[in-house]
Amino acid sequence: MRILITHIQELLQVRPKGTLKIAGSAMKKLPSIKNAWLLINQDKIEDFGSMETMPEIDEIEYDKEIDATGQIVLPSWVDSHTHLIYAGNREQEFVDRINGLTYEEIAEKGGGILNSAKKLQETSEETLYNESLKRLEEVIKLGTGAIEIKSGYGLTTEAELKMLRVAKRLKEKHPIEIKTTFLGAHAVPPKFKNDRTGYISHIIEEMLPKIAEENLADYIDIFCEKGYFSLEDTERILEAGKKYGLKGKIHVNQFNAIGGIKTAVEHQSLSVDHLEVLEKEDIEALKNSDTMPVALPSCSLFLGIPYTPAREIIDNNLPLALATDYNPGSTPSGNMNLVVSLACIKMNMTPEEAINAATINAAYALELSETHGSITKGKIANLIITKQIPSYGFLPYAFGSNNIDQVILGGKTIF
Ligand code: NIG
Ligand code: FE
Repeated sequence: MRILITHIQELLQVRPKGTLKIAGSAMKKLPSIKNAWLLINQDKIEDFGSMETMPEIDEIEYDKEIDATGQIVLPSWVDSHTHLIYAGNREQEFVDRINGLTYEEIAEKGGGILNSAKKLQETSEETLYNESLKRLEEVIKLGTGAIEIKSGYGLTTEAELKMLRVAKRLKEKHPIEIKTTFLGAHAVPPKFKNDRTGYISHIIEEMLPKIAEENLADYIDIFCEKGYFSLEDTERILEAGKKYGLKGKIHVNQFNAIGGIKTAVEHQSLSVDHLEVLEKEDIEALKNSDTMPVALPSCSLFLGIPYTPAREIIDNNLPLALATDYNPGSTPSGNMNLVVSLACIKMNMTPEEAINAATINAAYALELSETHGSITKGKIANLIITKQIPSYGFLPYAFGSNNIDQVILGGKTIF
């Protein structure tokens, strides 16, 4: 199937092959072509350019034409951090927080991650798959074209495997690119209540080999945080992951800065995610590293915690990616459009910076920037076609509206 899109008001994020990530002041630029055309061949972007230089229409072979007059076309969002597979919801904890309890207090009472783990252990693989599929289809409609999904609500070998097998089935069902991350070290389960180190050993000796054997994970994660897992635990997990070729993508600096960023960088982690609390040493550790910092502003919105200091990160000449953190406890939303808006509204990022962070830099955080995250010949044709809007700045500006008309995944119009 060859689809020709014509009269595109503006084609965004046009990059030369080989652009893997954008850092510092370069994030303020969003290369584009006004009044453009683009040709999709099978699942790839074959060619594009300005309407003035488009070959005569009868010289182009195509099966379907989309007239995008007044519409903007951009690469699909890449959501590099989600916990989209979960059982049930936690709206009661949401009400508890409204009534004055903190997120930490709820977790201490057995709520939080352990509450979700209990629900997930009691849920069949079939139900879990069906619930998760609904969420995945929802975010595809919202323009997400590649996504990471973590385990971490199982906390037993059986339940962690169940989550990752569901992820594998989702991969088979949908053309959306899915990367999976093993997050056994999300919380200490009741069985190991006073033996955190024993649980880490259990993860390394029991869970990890089984997951690796079934080839169920691309990355490894740990919640490096006071009251959860320490720096030493983080090192052990990252070392163990390395033996199976799993790079780190870690939860760090959400509530406290305990030095996890430096540890993650020293272990060549692919990304460090959250960073709501960031110290000078953390910024220094990120300089001259290949590790992508990832901000999750919809988590800050929902929990009422600080926003990741994006300006400080970018103004220190670092790159930054954006993701949703979709999960039942801290971010019950997988909407990347909202994330892009929040980045502008609450983190002082310009629309150009936010779009770079949600496309090419987000693709880097999943090792997908050779194939996703920009309009480049030969890349996968994952595209958002907006409704008729005045300019791309309207996307983050009109934060409550759905500005998407169509999404194309792997060269096919999906919804
Ligand atoms: O990324 N911080 C750790 N994990 C999740 C939330 C977990 C939960 O509350 O269920 C997060 O925010
Ligand atoms: Fe998370």
